[in-house]
Amino acid sequence: MSEARPVSATTAVEHRHVIAIDGPAAAGKSTVARLLADRLGAMLFDTGVLYRVVALIALRCGAEPSDEDALAHIAREARIRVTPPSQLDGRLYDVWLDGEDVTWAIREPEVGAIVSPVAEHQAVRSALLPLQRAIASAGPVVMVGRDIGTVVVPDAGLKVYLDASPHERARRRYREALGRGSDETFADVLAETRTRDAIDSGRDAAPLREAPDAVRINTDGQSIDAVVAAIESLARAQRMPNGDPVWTS
Ligand code: CDP
Repeated sequence: MSEARPVSATTAVEHRHVIAIDGPAAAGKSTVARLLADRLGAMLFDTGVLYRVVALIALRCGAEPSDEDALAHIAREARIRVTPPSQLDGRLYDVWLDGEDVTWAIREPEVGAIVSPVAEHQAVRSALLPLQRAIASAGPVVMVGRDIGTVVVPDAGLKVYLDASPHERARRRYREALGRGSDETFADVLAETRTRDAIDSGRDAAPLREAPDAVRINTDGQSIDAVVAAIESLARAQRMPNGDPVWTS
C-alpha cells in the first residue's frame, strides 16, 4: 500500500510535529487522522472545515461563489472554532461559528456543491492561511487538507498523500450520507466527488497535488486500521536531530 518512497530531506524540517495528510474528497483523511492523532497524542485539524464554514456563510447571506471580495471578507471575519467532539453522533470534532454548532450544517449537500468554487479563490485561501499556520506552529498536530504539504506547512515532519478510486470514495461518502438520513443518491455523490476533484486539482491557487516528498497511500480495499498503522509506523520512525523519536506518547 505505501509505496517505497522515503520521507526526503530536501526541505528543512522545522515543523517536525506536524503530520500533513492531503488527498481528494473522501479518501479517508479525516477518519484516519482522528485515530492517528489520538494514538500520537496530537491535535487534529481538518482544514476543509474552514472552507466549508465560509461556503455555509456565503449561502446564508446570499454571496455568490464567484464573488471573491465578498468571500474573502467572510473568510477574514468568520469566528470559527474547532473543539473536541461533544456528542456521540459520529462527529470527529465540533465546529462552532459564533457559538452556533455547525458541525453537520457544513456537511449538507448545498455546502458541498459550492465549497470547491469558494476554495478556488486566492484571496479566500490567503485569508485562511494565518490561522492554519498558527495551528501548525502550536503543534503537535495532524493536519488534513488539499495543500498542507505543498503550501500551508511545506516543512511538515511527515507528509502523506491519501488516495482511492473515485468509485470507492463515492461509496464511502454515500454510506455516510445514508447514515445521516440524507436522500442523496449514489449517482449524486459520485458526480459531486468527480466535480470537486476536477476543481480542486485544476485550480490555479494551491491546487491539490502530491508533495514531491509525500508518502502516497492508496486506501482502496484497505481497512482504516491498516492505513492508520502504516502512517503511525512512519511517524514513529521520525527522529529529532539528536536521534530521539519525534513521537514519544
Ligand atoms: O471531507 P472532504 O474530503 O469531502 O472535503 P473537505 O476536506 O471538507 O474539503 C472541502 C473542500 O474544501 C475541498 O473539496 C476543497 O475544495 C476545499 N479545501 C481546500 O481547498 N484546501 C484545503 N486545505 C482543504 C479543503
